[in-house]
Amino acid sequence: MNEIELRSVTKTYGGHLAIPGLDLDVAKGSFVTLLGPSGCGKTTTLRIIAGLEQASAGRLSLGGRCVYSSEDGIFVPPEKRGLGFIFQSYALWPNMKVARNITLALTEARMPAAEVNSRLEDALSKVQLKGLEDRYPSELSGGQQQRVAVARLIAARNSILLMDEPLSNLDAKLRTEMRKELKRLHAELDATTIYVTHDQVEALTMSDVIVVMKDGKIAQQGTPHQLYHEPANLFVAEFIGDPKINILPGHVGGDARGPRAMFADFSMPLDEGVDVDGPVTFAIRPEYVEIHTRPAAGAVAAVVDIVQPMGSQTIISLMVHGHPITALIPKFAQDLGQREVWISFNPEHILVFDRDQRLCARRKTVALRSYGVIP
Ligand SMILES: Nc1ncnc2c1ncn2[C@@H]1O[C@H](COP(=O)(O)OP(=O)(O)OP(=O)(O)O)[C@@H](O)[C@H]1O
Ligand SMILES: [Mg+2]
Repeated sequence: MNEIELRSVTKTYGGHLAIPGLDLDVAKGSFVTLLGPSGCGKTTTLRIIAGLEQASAGRLSLGGRCVYSSEDGIFVPPEKRGLGFIFQSYALWPNMKVARNITLALTEARMPAAEVNSRLEDALSKVQLKGLEDRYPSELSGGQQQRVAVARLIAARNSILLMDEPLSNLDAKLRTEMRKELKRLHAELDATTIYVTHDQVEALTMSDVIVVMKDGKIAQQGTPHQLYHEPANLFVAEFIGDPKINILPGHVGGDARGPRAMFADFSMPLDEGVDVDGPVTFAIRPEYVEIHTRPAAGAVAAVVDIVQPMGSQTIISLMVHGHPITALIPKFAQDLGQREVWISFNPEHILVFDRDQRLCARRKTVALRSYGVIP
C-alpha cells in the first residue's frame, strides 16, 4: 500500500510555477529520497506533504487518508497529519534549552516523565550531544543545532518521517555516522521516510528509491542501482556519480556489421533495430575507463593530466582527442609513471544517448567490477 500519494500536486508562487504537477507514490516502509539541484522544488514538495505549505491544486493522501484536495476543499493541518519532520532551517525554539526542544512535543502529549527521559537520553546519545542538554540553541554551533533537530525527530518516533537536508551542516565524519543512525532509525521505527538532499552520496547510501527532480518535475525515479547504472537521461547520468560520468560526443553510422556508435577510433555495436543516424552522446562512468600503458586493440591514445590519490582509489584526469576524461582506479597511485597512455571503454558499460534520452543499454547484466591500470 502507498503510505504517501501525491496526485497532480501543483504549486505556484505568484506567477512562478514551482511544481507543475507532481505524481508520487511512496510505499509503506520505504526510504525515498528527493534529489536535485538547488531550486528544483524539493523543500516545496516536502512542505506540502507536511502541510506547512498549501498546494495550489491536486490531491495528497497519507496512510490512505486524504489530507489535501483542492477539488474537495480538504486541508488537514500539519499537527493532525502524524508526521515527524526536520526542517532545512532546524526550527529550534531559541528560548528553550536543548532538552526541552527535544521533548516539548512529548510532554505536550502528556507522556509519562520516565518515558520522556528515556527517549531524551537515547536521542542525545544517538546524535552525540550528551552533556549539552542545558544549553540554549544560540550557545551551539550550526552542526550541533542541526543534531538537536535530528534528536527531536528520533525522540518523537513518528511512523512518517520527513527530513529536509538534515545533515548539511555536519563535518564529513559526523555526516557518515549520522547517515547510519538515520537509516537505523528508519528501520527501527518501521517508518516511511521522505528525505531531501542535493548530496547524491547521501541519496545513494540511504535510499530504497531515489526521485531525481528538475524544475519541479521528476527526471527519473528508481532504485539507486537503476539511477547509477541505467540513467534515463543525461541530466540524471551527470547528476549522479562522483567523479562525474564522462560525456563524449559520438555519432552513429552503419556498416555491414549493423549499426555502430563511434567516438574517435573507438566504435561499438548498437542493438539491432536502433533507429538513429548522426550525432549521439556517449557516457561512461570513470571506474569503467580502462587505462593501458601500451597500445592495445581498440584503445585510444590519451595524455595523463592530473593524478589525485584519495586513499583506496585514485582519480586520473586525461585528455583524449581534445576531450577531458576521468578514470577512477581502485588503488592508491601518486602517478602512473608515464604521461602517454591508451584508454579503452568496455562497451558493456557505455551508455548512448540520443539528444537527452538514453538510446539503449548494451549491458545485459551489470558487472560490479572496477578496472585498474592494465599493463
Ligand atoms: N515562499 C516562496 N516564494 C516564492 N518562491 C518560492 C518560495 N519558496 C520557494 N520558492 C521558489 O520555488 C522553487 C523551489 O524552491 P525549493 O525551496 O522547493 O527548492 P529546493 O529544491 O528545496 O532548493 P535547495 O536545494 O536550494 O533547498 C525555487 O525557484 C524557489 O525560488
Ligand atoms: Mg530546499
